[in-house]
Amino acid sequence: MSNSVTTVREAKSRWVRRIALILGGTLVTVFVILQGVALALPRSNPPVVTEPPWDSPQTRELFMRACGDCHSNQTNWRWYTYVAPVAFLAYRDVTEGRQKCNVSEWGVGGEQKCDESAETIQKGTMPPWFYLPLHPEARFSPQEQQQLIQGLLATFGEGGEGPGREGTPGRQNEENESEESLIPRAIALRLS
Ligand code: HEC
Repeated sequence: MSNSVTTVREAKSRWVRRIALILGGTLVTVFVILQGVALALPRSNPPVVTEPPWDSPQTRELFMRACGDCHSNQTNWRWYTYVAPVAFLAYRDVTEGRQKCNVSEWGVGGEQKCDESAETIQKGTMPPWFYLPLHPEARFSPQEQQQLIQGLLATFGEGGEGPGREGTPGRQNEENESEESLIPRAIALRLS
């Protein structure tokens, strides 16, 4: 009687061990695969083409401290950006961040939404909350924050009117102008 109870117990604990092994093995395998993909991600820092006309070196310094990792081509890819799953989050943030605003490609498409920067700081949406625990240097004193906001307004302009927006429409105008100016040039050629 007592013998059969112990065999049932043993059988049960063998099952538990087997399930734990399978689960553990699966987790390890999944991690190894994800980690392989994470290592293969391109952590690029393309060349710095042009920077905005910073109103002061301090504005640039403050921006690079808190925003440059995701909004420039000078990302500091720290060791944990090589470890899954953080690697995927960091890769996505840098890719999307550069698309919205990239101060290393000013006037060639990087300016996009930079002029919303002061607003995002005031609202507290940038830098993203999860960035701060790992980057205490991105935490500003109220004075630094005010300085950065003023500097960004002076450098990027404010949502539409400032110098920040001139890049894109300006280029379109240039294209239009050059097309239009072909006509008088053609007429001038025929007249001569
Ligand atoms: C950890 C990466 C990261 C950091 C650091 C960061 N950003 Fe961003 N930023 C993003 C991403 C990702 C987006 C696009 C998605 C979104 O709008 O949330 C973005 C979008 C923006 C936009 C466009 C707003 C919009 O609504 O699309 C502005 C402007 C901006 N960030 C400014 C800043 C400024 C200024 C700082 C520094 C104070 C900063 N960001 C720091 C990742 C970052």
